[in-house]
Amino acid sequence: MTHRIAVIGGDGIGPEVIAEALKVVRAAGVELDTVDYDLGGARYLRDGVVLTDDIVEEWRGFDALLLGAVGTPDVPPGVIERGLLLKMRFDLDLYVNQRPFVAPDGSHDFIVIRENTEGTYAGEGGFLRKGTPHEIATQGSVNTRFGVERCVRYAFELAQRRPKRHLTLVHKTNVLTFAGDLWERTFNEVAAEYPDVTTAYNHVDAACIYFVESPQRYDVIVTDNLFGDILTDLGGAVSGGIGFASSGNLNPDRTGPSMFEPVHGSAPDIAGQQKANPVAAILSAAMMLDFLGEADAAERIRTACADPENLTGSTATIGDAIARSLGA
Ligand code: NAD
Ligand code: IPM
Ligand code: MN
Repeated sequence: MTHRIAVIGGDGIGPEVIAEALKVVRAAGVELDTVDYDLGGARYLRDGVVLTDDIVEEWRGFDALLLGAVGTPDVPPGVIERGLLLKMRFDLDLYVNQRPFVAPDGSHDFIVIRENTEGTYAGEGGFLRKGTPHEIATQGSVNTRFGVERCVRYAFELAQRRPKRHLTLVHKTNVLTFAGDLWERTFNEVAAEYPDVTTAYNHVDAACIYFVESPQRYDVIVTDNLFGDILTDLGGAVSGGIGFASSGNLNPDRTGPSMFEPVHGSAPDIAGQQKANPVAAILSAAMMLDFLGEADAAERIRTACADPENLTGSTATIGDAIARSLGA
């Protein structure tokens, strides 16, 4: 079966790592019908387009989206990140951001479920008296019972399917007493429906200690959008490096396509030099294959990505080695 994939290489190292991800998926014997979308900083500087509603409508006809990275120092912060990446997540209702972390030596194996449509990312806030000495800037955190519950429920369902059946809520209930209270109450109420899943709670600051000192305590973690963003860069750093961290922006209800991308950004400091590790993008493509019902190819790709023999050299050398070990 051929899968229709919209591909957004994006900025910086994005196109470099996506080229390797597509190479590896094809080497695994999966047929893709891809359509490239020229979006990101360069396109914005050329004709002002970030992402149009028409393009989002077009994407609804695809099986999945694969994205490299977006954002460039040539464009003011937020224009591309909010206008392209967050618009994709919000418009396509990709409410779960699933980010798995496995230690290279197998000593830990956990998944962060990051709420992906609310919190401080929702865009509530603004300026008053901008540019004056009495300027005010507010940035609210939006937490709905509906949004929190669907994300927490997804995390319980996932934890229930894993051998350890353990779910940790990470928040900051000791200070964020409104949002934290809603998250904790929702978590505890949903927990009652999953008596076979054991639960724990960590404040996010303590979770930073445990990520470094005892990550083996975790199985599945569920957390809000901003905490999840920060914790998953740390998760990458303690699991072989950010160049190995993959993610899926999921619409679990499958009312539209999901979007897969590495956790890392466009890495302007190493862009265009074939220095980027393509494994994060390759593993994100493997997650996409799982979601498309190609579990066997996905597992073969993960095995090839875990072989240290395949992991030295340039971006393309690594992609070639992984593709070769899949039989290409
Ligand atoms: P970054 O993740 O791009 O880079 C952080 C550090 O990690 C850099 O030193 C970089 O060289 C290194 N790094 C990242 N990916 C790597 C890889 N595959 N192999 C080896 N090293 C790698 O974060 P940043 O510098 O804060 O952000 C740069 C731009 O990317 C910003 O515009 C930011 O908004 C954007 N960004 C986009 C995404 C996305 O598209 N999903 C994610 C994060 C950041
Ligand atoms: C990520 C990125 C994005 C986020 C940015 C680029 C909007 O850091 O996917 O982790 O903060 O979600
Ligand atoms: Mn991030």
